[in-house]
Amino acid sequence: MDLSSAMRTTGAVREFLNKPVPDELLHEVLDDARFAPSGGNRQGWRVAVVTDPAIRRSLSGLCAPVWSEYIAQTAAGETPFSVVQPTSIDLEAAAASFAPNPLIDELESAPAVLVVAVDLSALAVSDKDLSRHSIVGGGSVYPFCQNLMLSARARGLGGVLTTFLTRAEPQAAPLLGLPSGFAIAAMIVLGFPVHQPTRLKRREVAEFTTFDRFDGPNFNVQS
Ligand SMILES: Cc1cc2nc3c(=O)[nH]c(=O)nc-3n(C[C@H](O)[C@H](O)[C@H](O)COP(=O)(O)O)c2cc1C
Repeated sequence: MDLSSAMRTTGAVREFLNKPVPDELLHEVLDDARFAPSGGNRQGWRVAVVTDPAIRRSLSGLCAPVWSEYIAQTAAGETPFSVVQPTSIDLEAAAASFAPNPLIDELESAPAVLVVAVDLSALAVSDKDLSRHSIVGGGSVYPFCQNLMLSARARGLGGVLTTFLTRAEPQAAPLLGLPSGFAIAAMIVLGFPVHQPTRLKRREVAEFTTFDRFDGPNFNVQS
């Protein structure tokens, strides 16, 4: 699979065949992913390949209320967990109500579960002193995650990067032996897809690209 095809067809996969992912294949994927860039090439990522059913069950239990919060905010027309707009939802009540999510509910039997963490001391966060929410730090770990997804795709696997668990980091930390000073960036579930989405809904280039300034003319160029 060429790179462009892989980038255009790596859609989120949340349903997997009942077929294990060999550790050797996971190693190949991680061995590709490690060539990701990071600020100062600090490579602060760490990965836990979670196989223990008890830990998986606990992770599932931590993710479920976050999904309920997400669903409630979406139903109210909000961007869930927005740093710009405060929620109108009673998140505590939302978290207490069960909303089914097969990916979370069947996490124990998922083919492969990877938790990606990052060493905060390895991050050069150049926007950390601005008065708005900081964005740069994630740029030193999410390229690694996307490399992982692309490599998985190229090797016949599919999966989804999730961030449910980040919201429950304090509870997840002791379960996972997360070192102090590390943050959870993602929980990635991988497996052989039941169905690989290949027609992804994405905005056109001219919808998000302009000349010179962000209020400039659209970059309406045909390639
Ligand atoms: C930073 C980030 C966080 C995400 N968090 C979740 C998540 O918590 N749960 C989930 O099911 N999918 C999650 N996703 C997957 C997105 O929902 C998915 O990429 C998006 O809807 C596009 O889907 P498609 O590739 O199938 O078109 C996340 C993706 C990204 C990049």
